[in-house]
Amino acid sequence: MQDKIDKILKTYLCQIEKAESSNEILNLRVKIFGKSGEFTELLKGLKDVDAGLRPQFGKILNDAKVSLENKLNAKEDMFKKFELNLKLNNEKIDITLPGKKPNVGSLHPLMLVKNEVVNIFTALGFTVVDGPEIELDYYNFQALNMPKDHPARDMQDSFYINENIVLRSQTSPMQIRAMETMGVPLRILCPGRVYRSDDDATHSPMFHQIEGLVVDKNITMRDLKGVLDEFAKKLFDSDTKTRLRPSYFPFTEPSVEVDLSCAICKGKGCRLCKGTGWMEILGAGMVNRRVLKNCKIDPDVYSGFAFGMGIERIAMIKYGIPDMRMLFENDKRFLEQFK
Ligand code: PHE
Repeated sequence: MQDKIDKILKTYLCQIEKAESSNEILNLRVKIFGKSGEFTELLKGLKDVDAGLRPQFGKILNDAKVSLENKLNAKEDMFKKFELNLKLNNEKIDITLPGKKPNVGSLHPLMLVKNEVVNIFTALGFTVVDGPEIELDYYNFQALNMPKDHPARDMQDSFYINENIVLRSQTSPMQIRAMETMGVPLRILCPGRVYRSDDDATHSPMFHQIEGLVVDKNITMRDLKGVLDEFAKKLFDSDTKTRLRPSYFPFTEPSVEVDLSCAICKGKGCRLCKGTGWMEILGAGMVNRRVLKNCKIDPDVYSGFAFGMGIERIAMIKYGIPDMRMLFENDKRFLEQFK
């Protein structure tokens, strides 16, 4: 028995010492202490030993067990630590590396311009209102002094849903809706989509307008000019000049076309202003007495001015965009320039 114990101790202590991984330690543990491990077999043999010698061998066996187990545990601990370190090193994360930037969207240039125009006019006391894009012929034309046979309808070739319903060709129907629902005095701004059957480098079948309307007592053309002067200076810069040219709209009388001194050449003449020094930017005028009457407002007591501008046109001027279609193609390379 003693011999067997010595032999087991000798071979296994040596093998444990030579083991090179925690896996090998595990295998050795099974070989020694497993169900039919060598030490387990030895332990089973204890019952055949003389009763008198049993306690002595019991102690020897126990000591051997302790020293084998200590050696196994110590080695295993060592491998575990080593393998953990190896794993930690291999899976090291460099937290100082820059992360992957998520793609952040940005506002469309048309929305940037719209927001800017809205901010300028709300600072002047205008309230923003919203209305339907599918509009009654009555609001889009008739109440604006354009009866069914009016030649001015030709200027706004329109998409008709049926005889009485049309995709609004201008934001001006909101003048009527606002006067009907809000009454006077009134100071509103209405940004929105409009539709005309046009399609080329400077026209799109869908585009955006911003409508403005002021109605109160004693409103004159001077108020119109003053407000638009202020707007032009805020939109471009403080030395921008405003020029009114006579024009015609059925719903304003008198009507004007408003030009601003060219934002690029400051009036000297360049490609943007086609050498004139001026950029045509919006239509405006004093609200036609007939339109006031259509909204049950007494034109002898109240007067007003209105204006309407295309957002695409302003964006093209502001950002030097040569073709309106670029605004609708949604090419990311184009859009990213407005971040
Ligand atoms: N609605 C006109 C257009 O689309 C612009 C305009 C608005 C003119 C208000 C005068 C007053 O051409």
